[in-house]
Amino acid sequence: MKKAILILGIIASLVLLLAALVSCGQNLQPQVDKLTEENKMLREIAGPPPASLDNLFPPKAPAPVYLLEMFGLSGPFEGIGIDLQEGDIAGAKANFDAFQKQYIKMSDMVPEWKDKFPMTPVDTLGQALASGDPAKVGPAMGQVGEVCGSCHLLFQSKVFQKYHWPDFKIVKVNDPVTNKPMAWRDYMIALATSFSGVSNDLQQGQLDKARQHFKEFSVRFKTLPAGCAACHNTPRTYFVDPSVLAMIDQIGKAVDATPPDAKTIGELMGAVGNESCMKCHFVHIPPQQTKERWEKFEDMLK
Ligand code: HEC
Ligand code: HEC
Ligand code: HEC
Repeated sequence: MKKAILILGIIASLVLLLAALVSCGQNLQPQVDKLTEENKMLREIAGPPPASLDNLFPPKAPAPVYLLEMFGLSGPFEGIGIDLQEGDIAGAKANFDAFQKQYIKMSDMVPEWKDKFPMTPVDTLGQALASGDPAKVGPAMGQVGEVCGSCHLLFQSKVFQKYHWPDFKIVKVNDPVTNKPMAWRDYMIALATSFSGVSNDLQQGQLDKARQHFKEFSVRFKTLPAGCAACHNTPRTYFVDPSVLAMIDQIGKAVDATPPDAKTIGELMGAVGNESCMKCHFVHIPPQQTKERWEKFEDMLK
């Protein structure tokens, strides 16, 4: 009998606990909804563009189809503004019809972006143009511009990075020191090691080793343009240009002097680091790390 009461008591407290949890959960619901919505937005900000865009860019598509269609959208949109300035109402209306048609077409091209092409601002613009009232047309154009701008802010640079920037992982450089092909990143580490090797061994008074590091650094640096050619089909005039190569030759002279000219070496190595390594990193590392983040956090960004 006592046992039965005890069990009943336990069951009753469990029921109460459950009821408390449920009511608590109900109070938390708005917060859960808000966090879920924010989480979705953060994934959209941090993640890659929608996968179905792959079908609209090389290598799957023969051309950057989506980009070309965007130009097909901006042409008549800008045309509306031009015609209005010229007082050509008929022209503006014709451009609006072409714009609306292209807008509807584009709203179906990427299923994940269907809701990013709302019809209301476009309908409002059509009505404003029909009314012929400039005080209505201006703001209506602005509303449509908002639609364009908010998608561009989130996705345009990501589309650059995904489809217009080749991946450094495809680049191999033949290392002139070991005479072996190296992945770009390994080549960078070898280049940086021979670069730092010069100052490290000079500080330790190990002249021969420092000179050997310099030789390796110099020949590795001068081989870099072969790697640039993997993506650039015309030679680039920054980062590996004659002014940087001249500094490297001057470092060579200062390293070979007896005793080595430590001050010149330090200054010139700093200049090479700033003008070549660092500035080339400013340009090329952001898109590369964007690609890498998408791979590394793929599960979280789904
Ligand atoms: C194309 C221009 C370019 C130049 C010039 C360049 N780098 Fe790099 N470097 C890169 C890129 C791109 C990466 C990132 C590669 C990656 O993450 O796959 C990188 C990465 C590195 C890394 C990091 C490697 C790692 O562990 O991930 C080091 C170190 C480095 N570079 C050193 C140097 C030094 C030193 C110089 C100049 C003597 C130099 N780089 C010149 C483009 C360049
Ligand atoms: C749902 C997203 C989205 C919407 C909405 C959108 N765009 Fe775009 N647009 C893009 C993306 C992504 C690119 C980058 C394509 C590329 O570089 O390959 C782009 C590129 C462009 C470009 C090319 C810019 C350049 O010089 O590289 C123009 C022009 C353009 N959009 C005009 C418009 C106009 C005008 C509107 C609104 C009427 C609009 N877009 C609405 C996503 C959008
Ligand atoms: C993995 C591909 C890749 C490699 C390798 C690469 N770049 Fe670039 N780089 C790009 C892309 C993409 C741009 C954006 C503009 C463009 O396409 O020209 C760019 C832009 C630049 C720019 C500024 C704009 C321009 O086109 O002149 C310079 C300068 C440049 N790179 C130099 C170099 C040098 C020097 C090397 C080798 C040390 C190098 N790049 C290696 C992909 C690469």
